[in-house]
Amino acid sequence: MSDVRTALKQGLAQLREAHVPSFTLVAELLLLHVLGRDRTWLYAHPEEQIFAADADRFFALIARRAAGEPTQHIIGKQEFWGVEFEVTPDVLIPRPETEHVIEVALDRLALRELRAGRKQTLTGEGLQIADIGTGSGCIAIALAKELPGATIYATDISSAALAIARRNAARHSVADRIRFLECNLLEGFIHRAPACADISDVGAQHAAPLLGNAASGTELGSRVTEHGSRSFDLIASNPPYIGRREAATLMGEVRDHEPEVALYGGEEGYEFYAGLITQAAAHLKPGGILVLELGHNTLPAVQPLLGASTWTNVGVTNDLAGIPRVLAAERL
Ligand SMILES: C[S@@+](CC[C@H](N)C(=O)[O-])C[C@H]1O[C@@H](n2cnc3c(N)ncnc32)[C@H](O)[C@@H]1O
Repeated sequence: MSDVRTALKQGLAQLREAHVPSFTLVAELLLLHVLGRDRTWLYAHPEEQIFAADADRFFALIARRAAGEPTQHIIGKQEFWGVEFEVTPDVLIPRPETEHVIEVALDRLALRELRAGRKQTLTGEGLQIADIGTGSGCIAIALAKELPGATIYATDISSAALAIARRNAARHSVADRIRFLECNLLEGFIHRAPACADISDVGAQHAAPLLGNAASGTELGSRVTEHGSRSFDLIASNPPYIGRREAATLMGEVRDHEPEVALYGGEEGYEFYAGLITQAAAHLKPGGILVLELGHNTLPAVQPLLGASTWTNVGVTNDLAGIPRVLAAERL
């Protein structure tokens, strides 16, 4: 038997020795995970005895974290936009800077409503939204929660990631408004494109009609075969944007544990954006909004891709570290 304070002190000392960032917080999270308690309990019960089996489990988790495994993989979750997301090694761990994508998207949509002289209460009624490279589903699900009237399409090239995203959508009760498509960027929406797997959780009877079928109310088949063009009000994406040539500079817990397909955009990192922006231009309505997360050094390569003949109101938002993190624009 050990008490809470002693176990915590030993655990955090091991993490400090292994140079784990935020070692106190990590030790607390791992202990809370093992004990199934919250932080208030932890501080209120420092003398509480913990069972030997729990202490053993705690120190086993400390050893995994000290060996470089991300805390989120050990506890299987990460908070984003105030809600908890399941994460596994198949998806990128949602990052706090990605919350700026949500903020910018909601601000831009609200501004559009204001300019159109509509009420400022934004429910997203009738909006068609796409999240490209959805991973855990964090962007799609945060938008679905904020915009209860919107229909959202979430694509990813990784079927393993989409399986996690679907579970997260179900967990947050928005699975009936998000269509999950396994495809390359927005290719699933190209008119008569080769079929792209629709792996939504919802059954055909309950699914929202597909884009382009909305007018006729045609229900969804098990595969996507036909779509309208220029149908989206908002396209958001946090694409892979790290350069392979930067791989050696990444923290081991990122490089060795997160999916390569989610990390690397190419040799330089910005290679995804040209295709994404071209496809987004083809699929956004006039006045539709594009919101892209950027890598720490990708703005100079990406901003020139938003040419004035196609895009207007181009804006850059910095993250809390002052890095240009989100690029947004409106389709002419
Ligand atoms: C940086 S992660 C972002 C995940 C999630 N949206 C987030 O913000 O945490 C990029 C995602 O894009 C997906 N991806 C990579 N290449 C893709 C492609 N060609 N088409 C669609 N998705 C792709 C990856 O599988 C990964 O889930």
